[in-house]
Amino acid sequence: MSGEAQFNADGLATIHNSEFLRDPRFVRAYRFGMRTTATRMLDIHIEWRAWIAIWAAEQALRVPGDFVECGVNTGILAGTIADWTGFGKLTDRTMWLADTYDGLPEDQINDSERAIGLHGYNAEYRGGGAYDIVVDKFAKFPNVRIVRGPVPDTLAQIQTTRVAYLSLDMNIAFPEIAAARHFWPMLSPGGVILLDDYNWTAHINQKRAFDELAKEWNVPVLGLPTGQGVIVKPPV
Ligand SMILES: C[S@@+](CC[C@H](N)C(=O)[O-])C[C@H]1O[C@@H](n2cnc3c(N)ncnc32)[C@H](O)[C@@H]1O
Repeated sequence: MSGEAQFNADGLATIHNSEFLRDPRFVRAYRFGMRTTATRMLDIHIEWRAWIAIWAAEQALRVPGDFVECGVNTGILAGTIADWTGFGKLTDRTMWLADTYDGLPEDQINDSERAIGLHGYNAEYRGGGAYDIVVDKFAKFPNVRIVRGPVPDTLAQIQTTRVAYLSLDMNIAFPEIAAARHFWPMLSPGGVILLDDYNWTAHINQKRAFDELAKEWNVPVLGLPTGQGVIVKPPV
């Protein structure tokens, strides 16, 4: 790589234009997403992933439907896009935030994912107060609904018939595929599915599962150097 790194974090180093990092609107949105309390913020430097989520949200705003995230934890990505879009003023849309708020259900982790060590995430996700953080973070958004419990069991609580933005970030294949299948018929043409884990090497199970699903749906998945994947629902 020649030239000065513009970004070097989160498994991604690039000399390419990353000027959004200095855009005050981005800085504000990202800081809002990243904070865990009004005074505390532990930045894990996922700015490029957050920037991609903003693109997906902007795309989704062009079509009708709600925003859904399955796998919210403290709401970094959801908080970033909520601030960026001024989501509280979008009175015709709801943002649904689904998570156990207590880690990955052990019985959903398959043998291959367990062999890779993905159950180890639970040391990080359990007991961190994610639910309270999300309740506090999104309190000012009247159109954000928090759904607590395991996906897919909780999907019926997400009372929507039209989705524009679906973010899947649950670290394992089973609940993500179930959620993708559940929401696909409701996804507006032009709506976006953002897969946070698709291109991470440790998450190869999710990549394989989504590649199969994408074949069935006859859509391409765009794998990104951020580790994410993007699917856009084609026009009918
Ligand atoms: C990587 S974190 C999500 C990070 C989040 N997207 C953000 O922007 O900060 C993964 C989350 O998925 C949740 N999760 C994993 N499996 C789940 C399931 N079956 N149902 C609900 N939540 C689940 C975990 O509790 C954890 O909070």
